[in-house]
Amino acid sequence: MDKTAANQMWGGRFSAGPDAIMEAINASIGFDKRLAPQDIAGSRAHAAMLAATGIITPEDAAEIDRGLQQVLAEIEAGEFTFSTALEDIHMNVENRLREIIGAPAGRLHTARSRNDQVALDFRLWVREQCDAAIAGLEALMRAYLAQAEAGADWVMPGFTHLQTAQPVTWGHHMLAYVEMFARDRARFMDARARMNECPLGAAALAGTSFPIDRHMVAQALGFERPTANSLDTTADRDFALEFLSAASICAMHLSRFAEELVIWSSAQFRFVRMSDRFSTGSSIMPQKRNPDAAELLRAKLGRILGATVALFTVMKGLALTYSKDMQEDKEQVFDAADNLLLGLAAMEGMVSDLTANRAALEAAAASGFSTATDLADWLVRELNLPFREAHHVTGALVKLAEDKGCDLPDLALEEMQNVHGEITDAVYSVLGVQNSVASRTSYGGTAPVNVRAQIARWKEVLG
Ligand code: ARG
Repeated sequence: MDKTAANQMWGGRFSAGPDAIMEAINASIGFDKRLAPQDIAGSRAHAAMLAATGIITPEDAAEIDRGLQQVLAEIEAGEFTFSTALEDIHMNVENRLREIIGAPAGRLHTARSRNDQVALDFRLWVREQCDAAIAGLEALMRAYLAQAEAGADWVMPGFTHLQTAQPVTWGHHMLAYVEMFARDRARFMDARARMNECPLGAAALAGTSFPIDRHMVAQALGFERPTANSLDTTADRDFALEFLSAASICAMHLSRFAEELVIWSSAQFRFVRMSDRFSTGSSIMPQKRNPDAAELLRAKLGRILGATVALFTVMKGLALTYSKDMQEDKEQVFDAADNLLLGLAAMEGMVSDLTANRAALEAAAASGFSTATDLADWLVRELNLPFREAHHVTGALVKLAEDKGCDLPDLALEEMQNVHGEITDAVYSVLGVQNSVASRTSYGGTAPVNVRAQIARWKEVLG
């Protein structure tokens, strides 16, 4: 057939003929070469099993194993020439194996297919990323714990609507992130446990007539068990979707602290100083210390969630089992994983290096009538007012202070008594921010005593 005939209508902008274009769209080697270590580990386990079950001879298996180790060494040394004509990592490795050991290489692909092979390689890779994410999260949690410990009783404003709400402790705020990242860690652990079943042996889609031992391969590769349904196995990318989903939630958490760092490090807030290591200067404004790393972390969710949506969209509506659509899974997951791990490491560095401005935190905590709720609670507790009435009285006192341009503790007792005659000078004890946070001892509340107990608990969890 005339190769150029088919594209005469639309081929004007292509310099290559249709075969080259087909190769370009079909090949995955440009990105799936990252799976080489997983591909070779899977092939070595498969060959050992084929020998153990008598499907190939021990001599052939030994040759295959030797050859695969050489292929891996060549790849690691950067001496391997990847070929687009050989499409993907599986065929690149097998072809090189044939060049090294000759005929026995042709026996490696007995009782398997690229469909279960890619499912295995990718699962092994994603499993490693789960482990890396868990390790990164634990390091990050430790960094927050160190901050919490240093400032367990430092007072700062707690916000709702980014308006001063009530005084809280720095330690409590740091521990809020420990809780979030602990949930992320649990999600990765949970996903890892669920994905830890070995796909190899599902073959193309229906299993195989060879007397393979899938349990042996599963064990060799550190899986709990083989997958139970060959159709599901070759069609499934849930493990990647779960990884991406957990990564998205985690990146969302990163973005929230990143935003707080951007706000807190501004000249208007001055709550924290970011270290030089994680700040950048401006090429024109010499006074600037820009929180670029925090801003980039705020943005990372964009691409990670983008990858998640992309893979969901690839998988949606695919009839069982494998379709080539699924080759579009890898780049998204690679990019998301790389950026998540980089983001975790960067945040760990920023949190570890962060210097809180205790004086600025405390001054801000005392402003904005932050102890108004404490005052209302005092009126309920000491004067037995219904909370609604106490709220009303407190509102009037806040208005008075606002009109005078002072804070609540600056009001004279007589001024307060003009609003409600039974107020005594005992009220001043609850208007201080230290007393306010110390009083919030309800379980999960911000009191320093709670913060210290939670720090001890998390230290034990992390070991
Ligand atoms: N490169 C392929 C992928 O990443 C490997 C599986 C190909 N299987 C097939 N039957 N064409 O999905």
